Amino acid sequence: MEYLVLNNGIKMPMEGIGTFLLSPDEAEQSVLNALKTGYRLIDTANAYVNEKAVGRAIKKSGITREDIFLETKIWPSFYEQEDAIEKTLERLDTDYIDLLLIHQPAGNYIAGYRLMEKYYKEGKIKAIGLSNFNKEQIQEILDICEVEPAILQTEVHPYNQEKELKEFLDKYGIAIQAWYPLGHGDKTLLEEPVFNKLAKKYKKSTAQIILRWHIQNGTIVIPGSKNPDHIRDNFYLFDFSLTDEEMSEINSLNQDKRYYTSTPELLDSYVKMVPPVDEQK
Ligand SMILES: NC(=O)c1ccc[n+]([C@@H]2O[C@H](COP(=O)([O-])OP(=O)(O)OC[C@H]3O[C@@H](n4cnc5c(N)ncnc54)[C@H](OP(=O)(O)O)[C@@H]3O)[C@@H](O)[C@H]2O)c1
Repeated sequence: MEYLVLNNGIKMPMEGIGTFLLSPDEAEQSVLNALKTGYRLIDTANAYVNEKAVGRAIKKSGITREDIFLETKIWPSFYEQEDAIEKTLERLDTDYIDLLLIHQPAGNYIAGYRLMEKYYKEGKIKAIGLSNFNKEQIQEILDICEVEPAILQTEVHPYNQEKELKEFLDKYGIAIQAWYPLGHGDKTLLEEPVFNKLAKKYKKSTAQIILRWHIQNGTIVIPGSKNPDHIRDNFYLFDFSLTDEEMSEINSLNQDKRYYTSTPELLDSYVKMVPPVDEQK
């Protein structure tokens, strides 16, 4: 495993398991498989409605809590609720969260950020960050914050490389973490000829080549999977390296193509949407 040291000195694994769209049973099984394989970073969110299952998997794994890096996100309809983080800790069945993010730049995200700062200062959150914020919205947080964001989690993959955004983040020492690192499993991306060629050369899968490209770019990845073979394969990224020429070849696939487009209407709908967090298994 390779690690990144965040701008507040916290050490974070560069690869973890994602749990978006996984039911509680699927999330529990995938996280348990991942932890057994050697993963130590887990990404969940209030909105995935599987935080309790993630907490159960951690307990079942028998791995010491301090050896796991647990990341979750607060949902917009909870930003103004004083107990939003307390309830998140309860669902995860843990005393602290390693990294907490504002999930969306919707509603009163400043209130959500202030709440995260409060818990950060109390030591119940080790690092805080943002997700799906653009440059202007990140700047707004930088202008008012007492604790700088350590991470931006956003859509990054070979078709959407976010070069300009990365340069902006570098200036502030904010690390980037890719969601949809594999283009949400898009076959067109996974079967690009360059990935097939490199997969043959290194005796790896095309997914492993894409994930390795992210890591060498300094991007933290959290591929999602409920397939035990994929979970295992995706972990073995640290026994080979792509050459500079191969990295450039992959860089040339960029087409600023997103699979998800944020709109003001969507952001408004997020504020109204209340994830059924209390009803989860
Ligand atoms: N902050 C946000 O707003 C946000 C948004 C989206 C996602 N996320 C986070 O980012 C994580 C990653 O995103 P994602 O899971 O949606 O997309 P992804 O990691 O890009 O792709 C996941 C898809 O790829 C397939 N896959 C995984 N490994 C594979 C392999 N080795 N070979 C072939 N196919 C493979 C999975 O299917 P199998 O199950 O069959 O392996 C799944 O369908 C999420 O789980 C979540 O934690 C955050």
